[in-house]
Amino acid sequence: MDVNGKAFRAFRDREEALRRQYDAARAAKQHSKGKLTAWERIDLLFDTGTFEEIDAYNTPAAIEVEFGKVEKSYGDGVIVGHGKISGRLIFVYAQDFTVMGGSLGIVHARKIAKIQEMALKMGAPVIGIMDSGGARIQEGIASLSGYATIFHNIIHSSGIIPQISVIMGPAAGGAVYSPALTDFVFMTSHTSYMFVTGPNVVKEVLNEDVTSEELGGAEVHARKSGVAHMIYDDEENTILALKKFLSYLPSNNLENPPVFPDDELVSDVNPKLRDIVPDDPNKAYDVKDVINNIVDNASFFETSELFAGSIVTGFARLKGKTIGVVANQPKVLAGVLDIDSSTKGARFIRFCDAFNIPLLTLEDVPGFLPGINQEHMGIIRHGAKMLYAYAEATVPKITVILRKAYGGAYIVMNSKNLGGDFNFAWPTAEIAVMGPDGAVAILYRRELAAAANPAEMRKELVKRYREKVANPFIADEQGYVDEVIDPAVTRQKVISAFEALSNKWVKAPERKHGNMPL
Ligand code: HXC
Repeated sequence: MDVNGKAFRAFRDREEALRRQYDAARAAKQHSKGKLTAWERIDLLFDTGTFEEIDAYNTPAAIEVEFGKVEKSYGDGVIVGHGKISGRLIFVYAQDFTVMGGSLGIVHARKIAKIQEMALKMGAPVIGIMDSGGARIQEGIASLSGYATIFHNIIHSSGIIPQISVIMGPAAGGAVYSPALTDFVFMTSHTSYMFVTGPNVVKEVLNEDVTSEELGGAEVHARKSGVAHMIYDDEENTILALKKFLSYLPSNNLENPPVFPDDELVSDVNPKLRDIVPDDPNKAYDVKDVINNIVDNASFFETSELFAGSIVTGFARLKGKTIGVVANQPKVLAGVLDIDSSTKGARFIRFCDAFNIPLLTLEDVPGFLPGINQEHMGIIRHGAKMLYAYAEATVPKITVILRKAYGGAYIVMNSKNLGGDFNFAWPTAEIAVMGPDGAVAILYRRELAAAANPAEMRKELVKRYREKVANPFIADEQGYVDEVIDPAVTRQKVISAFEALSNKWVKAPERKHGNMPL
C-alpha cells in the first residue's frame, strides 16, 4: 500500500482527528471530582496492551436536532471493546462523561448492544462502567429504545455469562435498571450515585431536601437498599477489587472458574474450629472466623458485606476451586433470617447455581425475625425465595450445622429434604422445631403457671429439652444429617464431600421456568 496515497492519508487524518478529540479541560474536570476518565479506567482494568477498542469512529446518529445540540464526536460517549484480565477474555463498555456527560444516544446504545451480543457468542463476561447523565435528552425516544435493547440483552445473557456493573458517576432514571439487572454492582464512594428520581424531583413531589449522596450514594446502596454489592473508597481500589473478584467466576455457564494452587497454609485438620462456637448458646461469635478456618488461606471474598449482616455470603476456594459460602451470622441479630437476609441469600445462591459454583452452607439460625414490620413487609414472600433458591439449585450443596437449626429456618438452610447433598452437624448443633425457651413455654404452659418456682422449673425443662431433643444425635440417628463431625475435620470432610459430588448431574424435567416468589 502507498502510505502517501489518498486512502492511507484519509485513514491517518481520521486517527489524528480522534486523538484531537481528547478534551484536556474536561478530563481535568473529571479528575477534580476524584474520578478517572473512561480510558484511565480501562487502562487500569485490563492486562497491559490487551485492550482492543471497536467502533471508535461511530458518530452520533442525530447531529441536527430540534432541541439543544449534539456534539459531533467520535465514539458517541462510550468506549467499547475487549481485552484480557489475568489472561481471560472480558468485554467492556465504559461511558465517557467528558463527551456529552456520557449520555446515551442511539449509537452509544448500539455500541453497547454489539459488545453484549459478542460477549454472549464468545462466552465471556461483560463489565459495564457507568458514568452518565442517562438517556440523551436531544435524541428523545431513540435513546429510550437504546436502553430497552441493552436491558433486553442483559436479561437474555443472564445466567449464561457473568455481567458486572461498576458505577463511577451518575446513574439516574431508568438507566439504573441496567446495573440492577446485572449480577453484581460495584460502586465507588462519594463519586457515584444511583436513583430512579433525583433530589430535585424528590423536592418537587415530596418537598423533602436530600442530597444525591444521601439519596443514592454508595454507602446507601451498600447498607440500606442492597443494590450495591461491593463499594470502595476510590476508583483504583474499586477496579483492583473487581479484578480479584473476577478470579472466582467462570467465563460462562459451561465452564468452571479458574483453579488456583492451594497454598497449603490451612491444614485439613484444624483444631481452632473447636473453640469458635461458645458453650453458652446465647453467646454470639463471628461466623467469618469459621469460614476463614475452613477455606483456603485468605481466599474468602465477601459479597454484600454491609447489607443484611445476619447472613454472610461470598466466594472462597477449597483446594483452589471456587465455592459459594452462605452462613448465618450470630453476631448480627443472632443470625436471624429477615426480609433482607432472605433476598440477599437467595440471589447469591441463584448466581452460584447458574454458574456451577458449589455451595457451602454454615448454619446457626434461631429462626425468622418476628414482628409486625417483617410480617407486613412480606417475610412470608421473601423468606420463600431462600427456600426456592436452595431447592432449585442443582450444584453440589453441603450444609454444616454449627449450632442452632430451628423450625422453618432449619428447613430453609439447605436441609436434607430440601435437597442438601451432604449435611453435617457439629456436636454443638441444636436441631429442633423451635428453641428450648419457646418449646418449654408451649408444652408446659399449665405446669409452669401452677409451679411454686416457675423460673427454676423453666430452667430445668430448658436444660432437659437441650439434652433430649435439641441435639444433633437424634437427627443423625434418623438420617436427617449424614454425620456428626468433630469441628476440627470440617475442611477435610467438606473437601472430600465436594470431590464426591464433582460429577453430580441433575436432569430437571422440561418446563418453561418455575414461578419463583418475587
Ligand atoms: C444530554 C446531557 C445529559 C443528558 C448531562 N448532559 N446529562 N446531555 N442528555 N441526559 C450534558 C450536559 O448538558 C453537559 O453538557 C455535560 O453533559 C455535563 O453535564 P453537567 O450537568 O455539566 O455535569 P454535572 O454538573 O456533573 O451534572 C451531572 C448530572 C446532570 C447530575 C448527570 O447533568 C444531570 O442531572 N443530567 C440529567 C440527568 C437526567 O435526568 N437524565 C435523564 C434520566 S432519565 P456541556 O455541553 O455543558 O458540557 C433516563 C431514562 C432512561 O435516563 C430510561 C431507560 C428505560
